Amino acid sequence: PGVTPYTVGLTIPGQLRPTRVYADHDYYEHTMESAEVRILPGVKTTALTFGGSFIGPTIRAKAGRTVRIKYTNRLTEPANVHLHGGHVAADNDGHPMDTIPPGASRVYEYPNRQDPAMLWYHDHTHHREAEHVYRGMHGFYLLESDAEKQLNLPSGKYDVPMMIRDAAFDENGQLVFDDTVDPLQTRLTTMVNGKVQPYFAVAARRYRFRLLNTSNHRTFHLSFGDLPVVQVGSDGGLLPRPVPVTELSISPAERIDVVVDFGGRAIGSRFLLQTAELGPVLRFDVDRKAKDTSIVPAVLRTMPAPPVPIRERDITLGLSPDQQWFWIDGKPYDPYRIDATVRRGTTEIWNVHNADTDFGGIEHVFHMHLVQFRVLDRDGAPPLPGESGFKDTVHIPGGTSVRLLAKFTDFTGVYAYHCHMMEHASTFQMMAQMEVVT
Ligand code: C2O
Ligand code: CU
Repeated sequence: PGVTPYTVGLTIPGQLRPTRVYADHDYYEHTMESAEVRILPGVKTTALTFGGSFIGPTIRAKAGRTVRIKYTNRLTEPANVHLHGGHVAADNDGHPMDTIPPGASRVYEYPNRQDPAMLWYHDHTHHREAEHVYRGMHGFYLLESDAEKQLNLPSGKYDVPMMIRDAAFDENGQLVFDDTVDPLQTRLTTMVNGKVQPYFAVAARRYRFRLLNTSNHRTFHLSFGDLPVVQVGSDGGLLPRPVPVTELSISPAERIDVVVDFGGRAIGSRFLLQTAELGPVLRFDVDRKAKDTSIVPAVLRTMPAPPVPIRERDITLGLSPDQQWFWIDGKPYDPYRIDATVRRGTTEIWNVHNADTDFGGIEHVFHMHLVQFRVLDRDGAPPLPGESGFKDTVHIPGGTSVRLLAKFTDFTGVYAYHCHMMEHASTFQMMAQMEVVT
């Protein structure tokens, strides 16, 4: 939509600051509101936002320190917040039926007793989440720790979160949401941190990029040209060891944490962040030298010994018999039905099978609330190298299976699991829920 590529600089979302700091927690105030935002040059786009900006401000939390956030819903319809990847009590998880009415407020509490990682927050309102997220209800939640800082990965302004997504705009520059058409055919404009094909001026040194795909539907295959790239983290935090990569597959809601080295590159040189699907999404312009004392250590973390599972559970993702819906285990989502009962303190293997081999195979992206799981295997073969750490979202091609190992600790209550292709979950019912019991 009339955008000259690489004329607008990459925006790094501002940080939401606590309104009060207490002895035992940080207290924030945040909003859901409709806003006129600038995505395209010279055009105002109506968006649904957190805090009035597209994308929402970043929340930076410290591992082990509780965060409480009061959200005020200034929209004209119910909305809520799910901290994607968060290990939180069920009341604070943003269950699809647990929403904030227009004009009301409520406080969500995040204990942050989990590994440092880049999480993200987004709306999860029943049947509305796909459109809400698409229209802008998404933001970063960066959970940090001192131990991770001591690794000396690129930090500060050299640690950059990047939200990559697609969208469709009409001729007036407004976002088009239509869940009756194929989003892969219609959502052809890309954005990085809410700007279309921005440039990013970089120094000739290492950077850490925390990549998040917030497309409702599209998996991207990313490449950084001939720049050396190592993956250091995934959804749930650091990998045990860095993994050199050339092409990165990132599905909706997945995070991939990489270190990219511009070291030794000439001032004036340019590099594209390419997607196999929609071409270049960002250009890096090397415009200066800078000192670089960062490193990528050979060992990033030690994974705890895998807990012993007490059972294996089969989950099947697939089209309904009339091929009109996407279901889990042959049933549409019912927010009042419990689909899996799990005992707190136990570990299970979830064998998730994507039965959709029709139409050349339909991919799904499986996400569980509450837990960070390990990927044990894919159709019996070892997981991909980038799946050696903890994850909460996993891509499952049509006709294949993934076995996940999940330990259910601390909290009881009802939590969702679903396909994270948002329209599959929201419109086509591909969601279910577990209850964790004592
Ligand atoms: Cu990111 Cu249930 O969602
Ligand atoms: Cu799906």
